[in-house]
Amino acid sequence: MNRRQFLQRSTTAGAAVLAGGAAFATGHRLTMPPLLDTRSSGRMNLTAQAGTTSFIGDVASRTAGFNQAFLGPTVVLQNGPLAARVENTLAEPISAHWHGLLVPGEHDGGPHLPVATGATWEPDMQIAQSPATIWYHSHIHGKTAPQVYAGLAGLIHLTDGRDDERGLPNTYGIDDLSLVIQDRRFDGGGRMVYDPTMMDLMHGFGGNRMMVNGQVGATAAVPAGITRLRLLNGSNGRIYTLHLSDDRPMHLITTDGGFLTAPITVQSLRLAPGERVEVLVDFSDGEAPALMSEPSRPFTVLPFAIDTSLAARIDRLPDVLDGVPLDLVGPAAKTRTVLLEMGMGGGMMGRREFSINGRPFAMDHLNFRVNLGDVERWTIRGAMVAHPFHVHGVVFRVLSENGAAPRPENIGWKDTVLVAGEAEIIARFDQPAAPETPYMFHCHILEHEDAGMMGQFSVT
Ligand code: C2O
Ligand code: CU
Ligand code: CU
Repeated sequence: MNRRQFLQRSTTAGAAVLAGGAAFATGHRLTMPPLLDTRSSGRMNLTAQAGTTSFIGDVASRTAGFNQAFLGPTVVLQNGPLAARVENTLAEPISAHWHGLLVPGEHDGGPHLPVATGATWEPDMQIAQSPATIWYHSHIHGKTAPQVYAGLAGLIHLTDGRDDERGLPNTYGIDDLSLVIQDRRFDGGGRMVYDPTMMDLMHGFGGNRMMVNGQVGATAAVPAGITRLRLLNGSNGRIYTLHLSDDRPMHLITTDGGFLTAPITVQSLRLAPGERVEVLVDFSDGEAPALMSEPSRPFTVLPFAIDTSLAARIDRLPDVLDGVPLDLVGPAAKTRTVLLEMGMGGGMMGRREFSINGRPFAMDHLNFRVNLGDVERWTIRGAMVAHPFHVHGVVFRVLSENGAAPRPENIGWKDTVLVAGEAEIIARFDQPAAPETPYMFHCHILEHEDAGMMGQFSVT
């Protein structure tokens, strides 16, 4: 389909499709996940369910999702009380971890909080943090990779309703697009498969097709103006270096933990599994490039097409943003070293031992205890490949990467950072986690996590 054909199709059916989030009537126009706005009810109901999804042609693949067959709704949250209800109708235990929400360990949804088949988990949470693009996914020990791959993941927009004051686009699916970027492997018949080999265990399970919001081969319609793209790398193992095909700038406005203090202009952005960024892209010249990724051969992640029927409300970039300054400096109560290791075939039948500080994850082993309110400085070292390192229950600041100042995409508040060699981070542990429901710290290459590159700590 060329651009003219696309535009013809989009003017007839497009706007209605986007606004309603309804059936994929135009065939190739990217749709947003449905919205689950909790702001008036204070309730968030998610049901994990099995389903089938046709990604390529009408070939059905077995999938899982929250409230739908594949992936979950975009949950809109605000600060205040939130009564969550997670029901599991799948044939195996799942969990619902809120990756990026700063909530106590008992509400965190990690491996110690499984929801059995037919059971319901109802954490009563209090949300109190800066606006951010967050996500949720299942986190069962040893099963996180296959369950997230099957579709048990979704986005969260934590908002304070003040984006108009910030001068930021905020009309969902029009000038504010949520893009869940994932790669998936399809067999010759077009069926999604998950059958990791030793090689996939090493590098993370990679796909042979890209999908965005669970859609293969879609084009995103954008207005001829400034558009906000919220990007989540929801892939099991693939690291993207994203750029636009005509090399136009992207204006980075958030990292994992929320807004920067001012936009940073970049031409490319590295996004590792688990990380989120929001960027502004100016399409007002009416040209629509594609979102591409390296490394090695560049490939298309998502083509854009201008739809002049979409209203572009914002025509200038904000000069400043109101992100929380990175105020964690000075002495730390403790320093720790975290080694992410992939053993060299020492285990049974040549199985690699994935570990942290020489120890593979064990449900009943607490790696350490942190004092509530303490500031700690951690040095993370990754062996052999680059590892996206994630810590639950905190946002941290990256102090250095391989001895140098952090890259632009690591300048703001983070909960996941790609460690290619060594990184130093600093965090204040303000949320409690009892030893029975500790926080996890792990590699977000999900095959590494499942194989043991994870540890846990309490905060008391
Ligand atoms: Cu996104 Cu412990 O995970
Ligand atoms: Cu997490
Ligand atoms: Cu890893």
